[in-house]
Amino acid sequence: MDIADVEDDITEVLFTQEQIHAKIAELARQIEADYAGEDLLIVGVLKGAVMVMADLARELKMHITMDWMAVSSYGSGTQSSGVVRILKDLDTDLSGRKVLIVEDIIDSGLTLSWLQANLRSRGPESVEICTLLRKPEALKVEVDVRYVGFDIPNAFVVGYGLDYAERYRNLRSIGILAPHVYS
Ligand code: XMP
Ligand code: MG
Repeated sequence: MDIADVEDDITEVLFTQEQIHAKIAELARQIEADYAGEDLLIVGVLKGAVMVMADLARELKMHITMDWMAVSSYGSGTQSSGVVRILKDLDTDLSGRKVLIVEDIIDSGLTLSWLQANLRSRGPESVEICTLLRKPEALKVEVDVRYVGFDIPNAFVVGYGLDYAERYRNLRSIGILAPHVYS
């Protein structure tokens, strides 16, 4: 499959590489202001958040440490169930730490509300969330999200870390996946 075929799979580009980077710089300025002088741990949720983490971390002009978690939501098909299993836990002890969870997307919110509660039970000073994308129409639970890049329509999107069947994560832009790909 070459790059022209990949572009056929996207019906609409929502955000270009430039728009994504400008938004991440904006989020970084807010985070620098909010955590000035603090020792911040940013936690990336594998695998979708890899690109956001890489760009956000390099944009932050302050000391940070990085750690990673991998979780899986049990559920039928593509729907998240809210029952979450930890596939890879943090290497870091959270007691007394200021923690910022970094995610690619909040859909139903079930995964992140579970994750935030789980990390808050480990004795940190604070656990906030930064997500690049959010689908307001898909939210099933209230999630306490401090930083949001873009609110998007309730469509399946890929690119910039987001996948369909593990593909498209390497696209530089974020776009809506064409129905012919999954039907
Ligand atoms: P919930 O529903 O618990 O799930 O907020 C969030 C996780 O579901 C995945 N997800 C998507 N992945 N395009 C994707 O590539 C999408 O439009 C999409 N919506 C949800 C994603 O892994 C996220 O962490
Ligand atoms: Mg994800």
